[in-house]
Amino acid sequence: MNRDEFPILNQELIYLDNSATTLKPKCVVDKMVDYYTKYTSNIHRGDYHNAIKTNQEYDQVRTIVKNFIHARDEREIVYTSGATESLNMIALGFFGQLLKKGDEVLITKSEHASNVLPWLVLEKKKKIKVNYIPLDENHELTVDHVLNSITPETKVISIAHISNVVGDIRDIEKIGKICKEKGLYFVVDAAQSVSHIPVDVEKANVSFLAFSAHKMAGPTGVGILYGKKALLDKMEPLKYGGGMNQSFESDSSYTLKEAPIKLEAGTPPIASVIGLGEAIKFIESIGVSKIHEHEYKLKQYLIQELEKLPNIVLYNKNSKSGIVTFNIRGVFSQDTSIYLNHYNIAIRAGNHCAKILKDDLNINNTCRISIYLYNTKEEMDQVIEVLKNSKDIFKVVI
Ligand code: ALA
Repeated sequence: MNRDEFPILNQELIYLDNSATTLKPKCVVDKMVDYYTKYTSNIHRGDYHNAIKTNQEYDQVRTIVKNFIHARDEREIVYTSGATESLNMIALGFFGQLLKKGDEVLITKSEHASNVLPWLVLEKKKKIKVNYIPLDENHELTVDHVLNSITPETKVISIAHISNVVGDIRDIEKIGKICKEKGLYFVVDAAQSVSHIPVDVEKANVSFLAFSAHKMAGPTGVGILYGKKALLDKMEPLKYGGGMNQSFESDSSYTLKEAPIKLEAGTPPIASVIGLGEAIKFIESIGVSKIHEHEYKLKQYLIQELEKLPNIVLYNKNSKSGIVTFNIRGVFSQDTSIYLNHYNIAIRAGNHCAKILKDDLNINNTCRISIYLYNTKEEMDQVIEVLKNSKDIFKVVI
């Protein structure tokens, strides 16, 4: 599927670390080079040709993103530096004002650091409670477990749409419905989902949603915070500066612009925003559902073959995304990734920034294969072959 679009693949490389970051198609790189070589200028400041062109290219990405996640209004789309900044803004800039001592935020033990730490900071600062919705025996989050975890103190449910280690796809439409019925805020970390499965913020009654461009064929340094307009209006900026203010005076008075602009202080990563727009167009030209179908088929094949190898321990056989988490029995995960690298196979080993999942998995470190649209069955066969021969691992690694 579209391998020719990815110049980086013209080398000996089986790239299976797509949950960390995806490769970038030529169209995205070219679009960004165009900005740098043909019309560089700042946004919303200049009256000359190049500045007007930059404004057009930059501003239209808000519409592209809005349509991609089915938001209602461009004003619900905030450019940030990535999912991490978005989630910090949600927790600290919005809930930091709203939540009171004793209020409860529900997350899970398989959340990535950026959907845990900002809440732990609030727990310390505001004496809120952060509690964990139990995972099932496959380390997945079920709707029933969500429902059964809600208490009278619960104010917020904040979960990944797809967890970055287990790869389980959470039913955000059902969970969003529960939040609506119970009057809870619903925060979704869509970093691992938005370029792999369809996302509809309206259908899922999402209050806030976060994702990064670099995990969706786009550049690093830019991401999106989606928020319902009325909620963004109440959000306090975490950064102040140029672009976001209406006025400030020597008598200490100041006025901010409306959301989303009040949340975008300073010169943004203009080329990266423009690159994100191109990345979304690229993804849409294939279709997110087709991408998911392709990844899941490869995952199922890989699982089916790895199950035949007695030395492989699999942790997430059942999850429906393109993520396969495993270890070679008795081998430290990083040794496995160094071994695979010897065959030009790139995976991630470690705790994957989901540092409390160990309580559930009973293991600190795993190997993770994460599949994307350009991966092939032939690549899976090579991985299987190399893992089949892993009795020689220490000849290679040492
Ligand atoms: N969240 C990224 C990963 O899972 C960094 O690798």
